[in-house]
Amino acid sequence: KTPIAVLISGRGSNMRALIEACARPDFPAKIVLVLSNRPDAVGLQVAHDAGLATLAIDHKAFGKDRESHERAVNDAVAKSGASLICLAGYMRVLTPFLVNAWEGKMLNIHPSLLPAFPGLHTHERAIAEGASEHGCTVHLVTAGVDEGPILGQARVPVLANDTADSLAARVLEQEHLLYPNVLKRFLA
Ligand code: GAR
Repeated sequence: KTPIAVLISGRGSNMRALIEACARPDFPAKIVLVLSNRPDAVGLQVAHDAGLATLAIDHKAFGKDRESHERAVNDAVAKSGASLICLAGYMRVLTPFLVNAWEGKMLNIHPSLLPAFPGLHTHERAIAEGASEHGCTVHLVTAGVDEGPILGQARVPVLANDTADSLAARVLEQEHLLYPNVLKRFLA
């Protein structure tokens, strides 16, 4: 099994989907570290309860110096033995340092059908634009935010009475299926 590190910032439901997938004997990855930039991330507790190694490296301790925070993250991931990083709700814009260190070896899940709606508030924006379809994307991380090569997507309809929350929930269900599926295919 390929050793992977999962980076989170919050709830960690995508991380949980990866934990469940990795628990299957035939799944080609194992999680060797769950790392959060927020010490209070709920997902850290979820990972800890699942018996995984967890670590918080608080970006606030590094002030405006994004790269030194990333150097600490990179050191921790390297020490864990991970050969692949899965960003799962990791809400930091990366500098070229981390992007280059993990070129071709860092995946991200994004809650839209990229290239539509990069960035934040994707569900609100999809509704505001009157999109009839929305969804999620797993892609390789490159220097441009949410611009890397697309590895897989899942689509959901936007319904007439959708709110950002109802649409987000429909997309999230698909995220939890898509991320493990794409990871498995990526490693095959
Ligand atoms: C997910 O919807 C993920 O796609 C999104 O944040 C949520 C995290 O939820 N990621 C981004 O917006 C990345 N820019 P989770 O912590 O429950 O997995």
